Amino acid sequence: SAQWRGIIEEYRDRLPVTEDTPVITLREGGTPLVPAQVLSEMTRCEVHLKVEGANPTGSFKDRGMTMAISKAKEEGAKAVICASTGNTSASAAAYAVRAGMVCAVLVPEGKIALGKMGQALVHGARILQVDGNFDDCLTLARGLSENYPVALVNSVNPVRIEGQKTAAFEIVDMLGDAPDIHVLPVGNAGNITAYWKGYREYAATGPDGGPARATGTPRMWGYQASGSAPLVRGEPVKDPHTIATAIRIGNPASWQQAEAARDESGGHIDEVTDRQILAAYRLLSAQEGVFVEPASAASVAGLLKAAQEGRVDPGQRIVCTVTGNGLKDPDWAVAGAPQPITVPVDAAAAAERLGLA
Ligand code: F0G
Repeated sequence: SAQWRGIIEEYRDRLPVTEDTPVITLREGGTPLVPAQVLSEMTRCEVHLKVEGANPTGSFKDRGMTMAISKAKEEGAKAVICASTGNTSASAAAYAVRAGMVCAVLVPEGKIALGKMGQALVHGARILQVDGNFDDCLTLARGLSENYPVALVNSVNPVRIEGQKTAAFEIVDMLGDAPDIHVLPVGNAGNITAYWKGYREYAATGPDGGPARATGTPRMWGYQASGSAPLVRGEPVKDPHTIATAIRIGNPASWQQAEAARDESGGHIDEVTDRQILAAYRLLSAQEGVFVEPASAASVAGLLKAAQEGRVDPGQRIVCTVTGNGLKDPDWAVAGAPQPITVPVDAAAAAERLGLA
């Protein structure tokens, strides 16, 4: 049968598009939902990983970007702009190429992973490094979009949320119902907002107004990095820090929506330390075979923290979204790992070094 068509064609009836909307797509979405054997054993639950690093530019941002760029194109925009910790800019740059648009990106100087910078560069984006953090970049991007002919494609643009909600649809389509708990990393808080919207919509109405696809909605569990945890502190963090640069954000744009997702779902938003994030990052790659970037591991770190605290009842069905591909930020894979050994072209020597002889 035909290949996956991208989220707009797959979920057209649930998205704000018309026949006239030009569909700018890299066939994003349709990502794997991978059973996590070790995490399931550790928590005595049924844990799945929604592997968003399998999207065309390597993160969940592509779901929102196909919508944002398609709508910008429909409205006649010639240029788009975003603030980014790296993944949004990589995605915007790629989709802008497909749309024949200029893409401008604002990133915090020295604080985005090399792979993401490489993507924005190779797709021809106009990159400005800002002497400030992500929150400063977003303020600047908003100001530029209000005063100059350039469309903002950050998740403050509501069509981004519309695109990203499709990940929840896919999960319900694959599992046959909503999970009991959904766990996410939280930075600017767009994604937790989007999943909650998607789950609610699928529990409310089915295709063509028929029976709903899900009988319930999950509890939403969000995790911020301890040094960048404004939603946990209850106030903006002026100088956010964490090794998980993707979620190094002190004043999330979707603050209220994240709190609503938490409260309406009976969930929580908590923090995980960089140490817990790195432990989960290593567990995912070494024991589940899934290579993610550090920010993505915050969801799994959070699940393990909750399990240790006795907050995870056995037997539940849990989905953790892992948001971005490990290749984005390979420094953390190499750091602290044993160096590869050099051998001559000699089978006996190689066998000895491999412990086979
Ligand atoms: N994980 C990754 C890999 C991300 O890139 C982001 C956000 C998040 C999690 C958090 O999602 O912001 O919706 O709460 N990255 C944005 C960017 C900020 O610019 O790429 P959120």
